[in-house]
Amino acid sequence: MLAVSLDGRLAPPAGGAAQLGGPGDRRALEEALAWADGALVGAQTLRLHGSTCLIHAPDLLESRRLRGLDPQPLALAVSRSGQLPAELPFFRQPLQRWLLGPGGEGGGDRDAPATPPGFARQLAFDDWRALLSELARLGLGRLLLLGGAQLAASLLAEDLVEELQLTVCPMVLGGNHTWLPSGCTVPPGGPWHLIESRGLGDGELLLRYRRGPQGAGGRPPI
Ligand SMILES: NC(=O)c1ccc[n+]([C@@H]2O[C@H](COP(=O)([O-])OP(=O)(O)OC[C@H]3O[C@@H](n4cnc5c(N)ncnc54)[C@H](OP(=O)(O)O)[C@@H]3O)[C@@H](O)[C@H]2O)c1
Repeated sequence: MLAVSLDGRLAPPAGGAAQLGGPGDRRALEEALAWADGALVGAQTLRLHGSTCLIHAPDLLESRRLRGLDPQPLALAVSRSGQLPAELPFFRQPLQRWLLGPGGEGGGDRDAPATPPGFARQLAFDDWRALLSELARLGLGRLLLLGGAQLAASLLAEDLVEELQLTVCPMVLGGNHTWLPSGCTVPPGGPWHLIESRGLGDGELLLRYRRGPQGAGGRPPI
């Protein structure tokens, strides 16, 4: 899920830690987090923002408690380099962190480096499809993709995104930071079907699109 400008940017021209959405988008984000077992986040987003999104709304925390879930979904940081400075506030956030990076468990490399400090586990991501199957086997079947653009492009390029949730924000930003990087290729496929559209207040519009037969699936209410 992403907050995007009317011209499809996810960050202003200068880049940096973008915060496009308002309170309505924040609620939609926390609802999506409350649904999720794990939340995938790109390393550059973590480096820029310093931390990942947490659920704060008491009703959503209570709904997870009633379902026997941890307060926060697992944070799944995605990085090839593993360059995530230990000083990032991310490492002090009250959640469990896994690193999806080259080598580690699942990579078949017996000389793989130990799991970096701050992470409970490291899983290889050489093959996204296999990795997602492994995550589902480990109980992480409901995955939320928090961005940024490079990570979204990786998964869309392999046709592994089932649903797109975009909050369209009433701003025109220009610049290069489109929500998919220019040059990104995605496989041809059928249309995405609109499964939800609603105003979030302050001129924001939430759009949810899903792949597959019209009317199929969709994230159930939490
Ligand atoms: N508007 C929104 O909703 C929203 C949401 C999220 C982020 N953002 C904005 O997006 C910008 C950051 O996005 P970004 O596109 O520059 O970066 P990003 O996707 O957050 O992170 C890119 C990094 O993630 C790792 N990565 C991505 N794909 C990978 C793959 N297939 N395999 C292994 N590692 C992979 C790499 O980490 P290493 O470099 O460590 O190898 C890569 O450099 C920021 O401006 C942020 O504020 C906006």
